[in-house]
Amino acid sequence: MTAPIPIAILASGEGTNLQALIDAIGAGRLAASIRLVLSDRATAPALQRAARAGIPAHVIVPSATAETIKLLRSANVALVCLAGYMRILPPEMIAAYPDRIINIHPALLPAFPGLHAIRQALQAGARVTGCTVHFVDTGIDTGPIILQERVPIAPDDTEASLTAKIHRIEHQLYPKAIQLFAEGRLPSSRQPS
Ligand code: GRF
Repeated sequence: MTAPIPIAILASGEGTNLQALIDAIGAGRLAASIRLVLSDRATAPALQRAARAGIPAHVIVPSATAETIKLLRSANVALVCLAGYMRILPPEMIAAYPDRIINIHPALLPAFPGLHAIRQALQAGARVTGCTVHFVDTGIDTGPIILQERVPIAPDDTEASLTAKIHRIEHQLYPKAIQLFAEGRLPSSRQPS
């Protein structure tokens, strides 16, 4: 396996994707080292998951971009992974980590970007949705796609049941995408120089 890539995770909520990354690293499926977890919500369960795993974690003020960048730089991370981070990143942050910020979104982008993607898919009567790992640019869920996986929608699916199905797939897909990045297997224009 390649040398572990140092990463940071930004999360606002439950942190089940953070947990999936912690578990994938533990199981040897992902050559990464989570150096830092940052959250804009002091009560985010993601922070407790970080603490349980012995990962340094901080609450950030989303408007204090320079402070956030300072934290990331001092942890020397090569990749920033958004995992349920419910804020739009300021352009200064994206400029500080060009092609080194990725996100996981619960739909097959470019369909159903933005908030409530799972509800949007149900309301549209879609038969298939899924999840997407993509690079973050200044748009809302518009950056280049890294990996996607489909999730069929059953006629009796509710928002809760579909969320559970998508989460199960996300927890496999995110470690895979980060592993591809770590191994330098993404298109060369998107690979760190
Ligand atoms: C995930 O569904 C992710 O796609 C979206 O936010 C949710 C975060 O869930 N961006 P969790 O906090 O990782 O459990």
